Amino acid sequence: MKNQLQKLKNSVEKEIASCNGLDLLRELEIKYLGRKGELTQILRGLSDLPIEEKKEVGPLANEIKEEITRLIEEKRKEFMSSEVLGKIKEEKIDVTQPGEGENLGNLHPNSIIQYELEDIFTSLGFMILDGPELESDYYNFEALNIPSWHPARDTQDTFYIKDPLTSLRTGEKDRGLLMRTHTSPVQVRAMQKYGAPLRCIVPGRTFRNEATDASHDHTFYQLEGFMIGEDIAITHLVAVMKTMLSQIFKKEVKVRLRPGYFPFVEPGFELDFQCLICSGKGCSVCSQTGWVEFVGSGLIHPNVLKYGGIDSKKYSGFAFGLGLTRLIMMKYGIDDIRLLQGGDLRFLKQF
Ligand code: PHE
Repeated sequence: MKNQLQKLKNSVEKEIASCNGLDLLRELEIKYLGRKGELTQILRGLSDLPIEEKKEVGPLANEIKEEITRLIEEKRKEFMSSEVLGKIKEEKIDVTQPGEGENLGNLHPNSIIQYELEDIFTSLGFMILDGPELESDYYNFEALNIPSWHPARDTQDTFYIKDPLTSLRTGEKDRGLLMRTHTSPVQVRAMQKYGAPLRCIVPGRTFRNEATDASHDHTFYQLEGFMIGEDIAITHLVAVMKTMLSQIFKKEVKVRLRPGYFPFVEPGFELDFQCLICSGKGCSVCSQTGWVEFVGSGLIHPNVLKYGGIDSKKYSGFAFGLGLTRLIMMKYGIDDIRLLQGGDLRFLKQF
């Protein structure tokens, strides 16, 4: 029995030493230590031995079992660690590979120009105001010296809200609510709230009942600006316009005034700037005129100051309304206004 055990031990040791993989090792473990394994059988047979022999062989058999268990564990650890190392070697990390990068998105061209203008005007001491897009007839027309019978209403058709309760709810002497046709209604709102002197800009969304084409949309953006103080004159308007344009286009820009009619200014002007593409010689962008129509402007009509609660004998002011959408199209060479609201990422990602 002792000999049998010794032999078994020797052959197991050899087999473990020459074993070359985890699977084989597992097979060996089952072969010798499993429930039907060779060593297990021997240990089970011990009970049939005479007591003397049992005393001698028993401890030896247990010793051998422990030894084999230890050898198998050792070998297993060896295999496991080399397997892990092998995997690490296999999975080399390429530190030169570029990262995936987050797509953070970008500002809409409208916002880019709007923020640029806000910076320019705040540096000139203007504050930035907001106003409602759903506006009352009163602020959009009436308080801007455009009574309900005035033909100038026809030039700015918009979307009207029919609900007759709206006029009751707003409590204003108006005929209801409408989508504002320009940012000018904020002129009187600001005068009523802040009084004079006053320097404000109002960037915002405006609406007209327009048939849509490459240069017209029912929704577009304007930037209103106005300055009220003692002795404010047209020269102030021209200086502010020139400063703004040269900042936006990063060079000196020539402007000219033409008479223009808006009921809320007197005198009123169309202010053009010299085409930057052809330097005034005439090209397709400026329709061969050398000038680009830019803002409606003028000195604020005394009636409007009155609606705003400002003494027109003491104060005067200029106002302008700039087509923000048109400026963006000029600056970036965008030839279809519909792209700006279309939400097409191929277009929007270019800015
Ligand atoms: N609100 C006018 C428009 O939308 C522009 C304007 C503003 C004209 C201020 C004069 C003064 O056409």
